[in-house]
Amino acid sequence: MDRKLDELLFALMQNMTIAVSGEKLARDLDVSHSTLTRWIEKLREAGVEILGELFTGYRLTRLPDVMLPQLIRPRLHTQALGKTIFHFFSLDSTNAFASRLLLHGRRLAHGALVIAESQSAGRGRLGRAWYSEPGSGLYISIVLRPRIPPGYAPLFTLGTAVALHNTIERITGLQVDIKWPNDLLVDGKKICGILAEMQAEFDRVNSVIIGVGVNVNHAALPAELYDTATSLRLASGRDHSRMELLVDFLEELENLLTRCEQAGPATIIDDWTACSSYANGRPLQIHNGFQVIEGTTAGLNSFGALRLKTADGTIEEIYSGEIVK
Ligand code: BTN
Repeated sequence: MDRKLDELLFALMQNMTIAVSGEKLARDLDVSHSTLTRWIEKLREAGVEILGELFTGYRLTRLPDVMLPQLIRPRLHTQALGKTIFHFFSLDSTNAFASRLLLHGRRLAHGALVIAESQSAGRGRLGRAWYSEPGSGLYISIVLRPRIPPGYAPLFTLGTAVALHNTIERITGLQVDIKWPNDLLVDGKKICGILAEMQAEFDRVNSVIIGVGVNVNHAALPAELYDTATSLRLASGRDHSRMELLVDFLEELENLLTRCEQAGPATIIDDWTACSSYANGRPLQIHNGFQVIEGTTAGLNSFGALRLKTADGTIEEIYSGEIVK
């Protein structure tokens, strides 16, 4: 975790207009001059523009768009989600970091949040990679500790998709669709993906890691993604605050999970159905991991599986898979 770098950047942000003496920064952070110089270099490498040197003092040239926990906490009004934050300037993958902690027996609080400004090995569904341009996207993982049987786990990805859908529509004014199981689309192109990974026993979920990647301020996407993906900036023509998106999303998700606890899974199922043009009446071919099933969508069952009505009228319930056509 980059806690010390966060502290240093936060200290610089408190004094935007004046140069802060290197001497004072080193003293306040309780580090040597050489460590301070090294940390300043690390921040510069991460894209933070800092003028000056140890003996002249340091000054930020502009307010950096960095998701510092110190800035998130006062804005976030949740009970559990995001109360513990791990923030990194660069990381292999937020999901991988959260699973490493769990694997090593670290007892993470329900709602613990991992944020990376950039990922070197962002993971997508089905073993794919997730393009994680530094500073432009939202790359986060949330650790949930639901007391439910594993069969209900899909509800968490569906709920996450609904929360993101609502947040993105509210903040950007764009119209968002949810493609089953959990891709968010704008103008038919993907702007957000969700990767849920579960640690479970046969009859009990221990934890679910919900990884979320949102293309926010990307000015362009790599050629191979151009036809299938876009960013909020490309779709709306303006930049968006990643911090505002994150805070709104966490509050939205917490409200949805609380409503689900009180009123049952139908809350999430109904909301997802209302947000997705894929829920009903859509002819699809889906690969469920074993075979391709063809049919027309007929809503979700109470566990969140997609119901597909096949040509002979039978209903196939699909818990996971990929739309192939
Ligand atoms: C998908 O394939 O659609 C899922 C993409 C999920 C990407 C996010 S980025 C943050 C989190 N950490 C990862 O390594 N992956 C997820």
